[in-house]
Order: sequence, then C-alpha cells, then structure tokens
Amino acid sequence: NPKFVVLSPNLTTCHKSLSDADRPVYCCPPKRESLEPIIDFQFPDISSPIRVRKPAHLVDADYIAKYNKAIAIMKSLPYDDPRNYMRQANMHCIYCTGAFISEHTNSLLKIHRSWMFFPWHRMMIYFHERILGSLIGDENFALPYWNWDSPDGMFIPDMYLNGSMIDTERDNSHLPPQVADINYDYVESGLGPEDQISTNIAFMYNQMVSGAKKTELFMGCPYKAGELGFCDGPGTIELAPHNALHTWVGSNLNTEREDLGAFYSAARDPIFYAHHSNIDRLWNVWTDLRGNNKPAIEDPEWLDSTFYFHNEKLELVRIRIRDVLDMSKLRYTYEKVDNVWLNAKP
Ligand code: C2O
Repeated sequence: NPKFVVLSPNLTTCHKSLSDADRPVYCCPPKRESLEPIIDFQFPDISSPIRVRKPAHLVDADYIAKYNKAIAIMKSLPYDDPRNYMRQANMHCIYCTGAFISEHTNSLLKIHRSWMFFPWHRMMIYFHERILGSLIGDENFALPYWNWDSPDGMFIPDMYLNGSMIDTERDNSHLPPQVADINYDYVESGLGPEDQISTNIAFMYNQMVSGAKKTELFMGCPYKAGELGFCDGPGTIELAPHNALHTWVGSNLNTEREDLGAFYSAARDPIFYAHHSNIDRLWNVWTDLRGNNKPAIEDPEWLDSTFYFHNEKLELVRIRIRDVLDMSKLRYTYEKVDNVWLNAKP
C-alpha cells in the first residue's frame, strides 16, 4: 500500500467550471473557504429529536407553511451568507461541475457517476435540512421525500406548485396530473397513467433488486484520489430514476433543461431536496435488503473521503463519508412506506 491518499477538495482551487453541455458556469463562494477556520464534524447531541422525513404528497398544510417560510428566509439572506438559498444550490454546482481540484492530484473533483454519489448527497441535504430548521427555530424540521417509487407519489407533489416552492423552470407538460416516467430519456413514453405506473414499478424492482445484486452495481464504481482517479460508472439508481427524473422535471424550453435537468442549476429547484431525500431513503432500503451486517463498502479510501459544508452556525465543517453511514447518529429517519416494487418480481 504505497501511498494512501484520500479524496478531498483543495479549497484554494475553486474556479470557473463547465456545465453538462460544456458552457462556463461560476458557482464558487464569494470568499475563499480556505481562509475560514475549519471544524471537524460532530454528531448531533443524542438528546436532540429525531427528524422524521415524510412523503411529500402526504404532508399537511402546517408543515408546508413552515417549509415555505424557511425557504423564503433562506432566499432573503445575503449571498455572502453560506445559508443563502443560491449558495446552497451552488454547493451542488461546485461539486458536480468540478469547480474544485482534488487534493494530491490535478484532477477536477466531481461527485456524480461513482460511489461518491450517495454519501455526498446525504451530506448536502443533511446540512440543508438543519439550516432550514434553524432559520425557523424548529429542531424537528425534516425535509420531505418525493416518494416517486410509490403509485401515489409518482407526480410532482402539490406542495411544489405554490409559494416559495414554485420553480418556473419546469416542463409544463410534466406537471400534475402527469405520471412521472422514472426512466425518462428525453422522449415521452406515450403510456397512459396505469401503464406508466406499472412500468415504473417493474423498473424499480430492476434498479433496486435484480439489477443491483452486487455492491458496485448499486453504489457505482470506486472513485479514488490515487492512481485510479475519476471513474465513470453510476449505480443503477443514480442513472435512473435519479438522472431520469432530473431531466423529466427540468424545462424542455431551456438548453440544458434547467433548473432540475442540469447539474449546475438543479438545486435551485426546491424539489431537488425531496428528490434526493428519496434517493437517500432508497440507499437505506437497499442496505437493509442486503441483510448483511458487514458494511457494503469497507475501503478506507471511500470511508475517509472528505468534503466541506457550512452548518447552521455558519461554521465550515470537514466531514468524511464514514460520518454519514448511520442515520440514527445523524438524528433523522424516514417515515415507513410500503415499497410496492419489492413484490414486482417479473
Ligand atoms: Cu447531484 Cu440529483 O444530483
């Protein structure tokens, strides 16, 4: 084992980067993060409440009002404040377009299309959720999840059609009552609602069960800082429904199907967070289905990969993948739903 190098961004390197279609974008923070003090991640206090993430199509009016208020506050913060809504969205832009160069190498750090996908997004929405909660003084606040793998959840949830949750850059023909095509690839399926739902369910079985029997198939290829470098092999769920729904929601009138359809702009649409909350839930479901006490990945180069996020106290936090593998330590959970696709064996 010659040189043990861990994947992590070099914070002095944030620079103009390229969108999916190779157009220049700039999403770096206004001040260099490398000049800020950095603290190591600490788990929330074990006496703090467990935040319960619920399906977005089942939340009540009170909850929607609270969430709207939190987003409105986030949007009103100055851009200098890392809790600002656009700054949050730009975190995704930074890490998905390769705005940082990774430490110890000269390559752009990109967290999609590899085994960085699940843990990095878990971190992003974890911090985002806690910032939202702190802005409205609610330590129980939890993100909703877009339950697109369940027949009742296969629509853009109503809560995203009003108030601070609106994003005008969505494909109008995909607003409710259109059933989502969770394997969308730029072409309309032409299926009626019932056929689309059953096609979706069968597809979920493939992505979660029959097509995801090996760790690498589900998690994506090993991306390491060392000799191997960036690998390009997304896991089943990352490819679709994940990528597919990004494309399906984004506006067909925009070059890169912004907002949700392009990585640099995706997190500007509040539905991004509910989409990723469901992805995050499915990572747990898959882990439970393995029914094995050994962690799926024990490679220290994955476990020690390190990223930086601002927390609700505006501190810059250094966090490793090993810190986010146990939701109960992070003090959140998912309200249980019936995973109907589990019984959809062809
Ligand atoms: Cu980082 Cu849903 O993409």
